Amino acid sequence: MFVGRARELERLRAVLDPMSGGAVHRVVFLEGAVGIGKTALLTEFLAEWDGARVLFARADEHGTTTPLGGILGILEQLFGTGPTALLERVRAPRELLRAIRERLGAQPALVVIDDAQWLDPAATTVLEELVMAPSPTGWGFLFAHQPGGMPGRLVRAARRGGCAMHRIVLDPLEPGAAGALLSSQGVLDLRLVELAGGNPLFLRLLAEHHHRTTARPVEAVRTSLDGALRRELEQLLTPRERTIAELVAEGHSNRDIAAALHLSPRTVETHVSRILRKTGVRSRAGLARRLDAAG
Ligand SMILES: Nc1ncnc2c1ncn2[C@@H]1O[C@H](COP(=O)(O)OP(=O)(O)OP(=O)(O)O)[C@@H](O)[C@H]1O
Ligand SMILES: [Mg+2]
Repeated sequence: MFVGRARELERLRAVLDPMSGGAVHRVVFLEGAVGIGKTALLTEFLAEWDGARVLFARADEHGTTTPLGGILGILEQLFGTGPTALLERVRAPRELLRAIRERLGAQPALVVIDDAQWLDPAATTVLEELVMAPSPTGWGFLFAHQPGGMPGRLVRAARRGGCAMHRIVLDPLEPGAAGALLSSQGVLDLRLVELAGGNPLFLRLLAEHHHRTTARPVEAVRTSLDGALRRELEQLLTPRERTIAELVAEGHSNRDIAAALHLSPRTVETHVSRILRKTGVRSRAGLARRLDAAG
């Protein structure tokens, strides 16, 4: 069951519909935290899409070191083969690009990349070139990514390529939609909706826990939510950022943190703003609350 997101679906259709006028090259960045529903939204959107040919790939966290692993899905779709066989035939990125363009011909295409934060450098290079010089018939690009994770090169390529750029941020689900999702999973406890804060992944974890534990359900599921939050933070932050985040949450100033870690206050400042951006938290106090929730 898919709930809510009518506004986001509408917006995706409007900005990617080739008939809607404006620039023919469009790039959409779909940004959202872990488990907020980026993949679910893409799936729903693509199921109804009847526009240009779709090329889809999902970059894989564990594949960030495999050259072209991030666009494996697209290569398989176009060439019926993975990067290893392909690289035997096509050596340079430029050649690969030519081959991709040839396969696509002059028809419009919609290139969709899920989990773009895990794109490997080779895949990023290929996409960069495509974004900078799309086909004359018009291409759309849709990148789903976690906050702060979008490769900067692709953002710059979109700017340089004169694309119409759109950013869609996936907020937590509205309480009504979250409640509907929870009850579709057989749970009717509104406290869980509040606890999950509109994150559908957390809602699912909470519902699963609820089914497993009958005693003190809310307290018991809180543990599972804490685990999910902790994993989210671990995934988002580098070990250094995590240390700095903890020191910030304990109330230390940038100057003190810099002294303790033998860094310049400016470096600490940069880390802190990156941490705030990645976690989507607005203030140092907010970070303390977030880490506190994550245990
Ligand atoms: N609008 C929705 N309606 C119903 N279920 C949803 C919705 N959005 C997400 N879900 C469910 O919540 C879970 C997490 O969603 P999803 O995998 O799409 O998150 P994500 O943003 O892609 O996370 P990640 O950053 O880990 O890739 C999935 O089980 C998904 O089916
Ligand atoms: Mg996903």
